[in-house]
Amino acid sequence: MKIIKIIGILIAIILVGFAGLLTYVKIGLPNIPLEKNLKVEVTPTRLERGKYLANHVSVCMDCHSTRVRDKFAMPLQEGTFAKGGEEFNEDLGFPGKYYSKNLTPSNLGSWSDAEIFRAIYLYW
Ligand code: HEC
Repeated sequence: MKIIKIIGILIAIILVGFAGLLTYVKIGLPNIPLEKNLKVEVTPTRLERGKYLANHVSVCMDCHSTRVRDKFAMPLQEGTFAKGGEEFNEDLGFPGKYYSKNLTPSNLGSWSDAEIFRAIYLYW
């Protein structure tokens, strides 16, 4: 009887700990400061640099555009750049189904510069 009571207490502790962890993830994250007054000035040089980074360095467009899967190297389908919708699932090693988001102004247009910065900036 005593062992069952101890196991019961241990399970209760684990459940409370797990609930606490989930609550922290839901309420406490992202724990990254939002620099509310951040305003990024758009210049032709920055746009060019952004295109270069998004298409060739960070390959944002590779995931956030439609891939032509039956062609060699699965090129990006013209006209779908940044529209999102690609599925990332268990077959690719993800713990469920995720869909890349639309990065065009129709989705991110309502985001402030600070929110976009926070979403893509990596704090190491
Ligand atoms: C490996 C594929 C992959 C790459 C590369 C990638 N993303 Fe994503 N991105 C995703 C997925 C999948 C999501 C949705 C995640 C989710 O649902 O939690 C996402 C979400 C986002 C979001 C959130 C949009 C929203 O509406 O919530 C932004 C902003 C974003 N990505 C920007 C970028 C930028 C900028 C780059 C390049 C620096 C990039 N992503 C590179 C797959 C990728």
